[in-house]
Amino acid sequence: MFNPPFTDPEQAEAFIRQYHAELPGTGDPEPRVAEVLDEISRTGTYRHTGEELAYGARLAWRNSARCIGRLYWRSLVVRDLREVGSADELATQCFEHLRLAGNAGRIRPVITVFAPDRPGRPAPRILNSQLVRYAGYPDGAGGWIGDPAGGRLATRAADLGWKPGEGWFDVLPLLVQERPGERPRWYELPDDTTLEVPLSHPEYPWFAELGLRWYAVPAISDQTLEIGGIRYPAAPFNGWYMGTEIGARNLADADRYDLLGLVAEELGLDTSSSRTLWKDRALVELNRAVLHSYQEAGVTMTDHHTESERFLRHVAQEQRLGRSTPADWSWIVPPISGGATPVFHRYYDPVDPRTRPAFVARVPW
Ligand code: ARG
Repeated sequence: MFNPPFTDPEQAEAFIRQYHAELPGTGDPEPRVAEVLDEISRTGTYRHTGEELAYGARLAWRNSARCIGRLYWRSLVVRDLREVGSADELATQCFEHLRLAGNAGRIRPVITVFAPDRPGRPAPRILNSQLVRYAGYPDGAGGWIGDPAGGRLATRAADLGWKPGEGWFDVLPLLVQERPGERPRWYELPDDTTLEVPLSHPEYPWFAELGLRWYAVPAISDQTLEIGGIRYPAAPFNGWYMGTEIGARNLADADRYDLLGLVAEELGLDTSSSRTLWKDRALVELNRAVLHSYQEAGVTMTDHHTESERFLRHVAQEQRLGRSTPADWSWIVPPISGGATPVFHRYYDPVDPRTRPAFVARVPW
């Protein structure tokens, strides 16, 4: 009936076999393989059991070659919300995701899996790149107010009727598109979903006066979760932050908040030559402020030294289980002090882009 089938039967079979091979107590894969193949030939696709879905999502994390935090892959909390059909309910459940993940500061890794694409029935999409992100507005002089990475979504939301703010840290609304060609709907995030941390420095009182802040839960929402040939285009997931993501990238990158000059000035550094290492010194103090502030606020965060060690423990543990841990060196090595962390001093198994289950770039409708 479906030719070629909507869902690749080879992918389906490979996943079911891996699931049974890795999980003791799941028994003989053959009956389930036969059932799945039959379902695909009749309907074009198949439905994962709750356990297959949960394990598949954890495997997608384990396979994420750019993630340094994979030691905890087994602990991922999987919310099965495949039945959610409307944009309204999807938004409500994204908010509930943020509350569960934020957990008053004790961040829990969570994924919420919404409906998969089915033959003739594409699933809803979340248009935001993360559930929580700050808006960016062009300042009219070639610069930005807020996060330039949130510039496009801010424009898009404004076109749909969202009233933009004028601040440096305005949380963007959630944009959900129920069907191809349909006008996306926007939803303001309720206050109790967006835990944020005001940034201060352990030694410099002036730092708090800068009025910087960041949110607690990094929840990626623009990647498709692919398991056994089934695509879940709306499957937001989160871990907790490593300090450098904020202190050495979001607040420091020239095309993001670009704050190194300001911090160096406040520190009274000599910025007349790159050889004074003013950028490096500003980076260190910015990163100290981030780690200090999250700790003070009781919000889970890790530092790049600790996380590097944990990652190598994960690689060793996987090796003992007879599995390799493909990794992308350029993403695993932290953006400051690379050589001071153990992950710098070695190479990793090469990444095969065909590996599944995986989080992949969002597919167009
Ligand atoms: N680097 C991204 C950000 O700063 C988040 C990526 C996921 N990070 C994580 N710790 N799970 O917003």
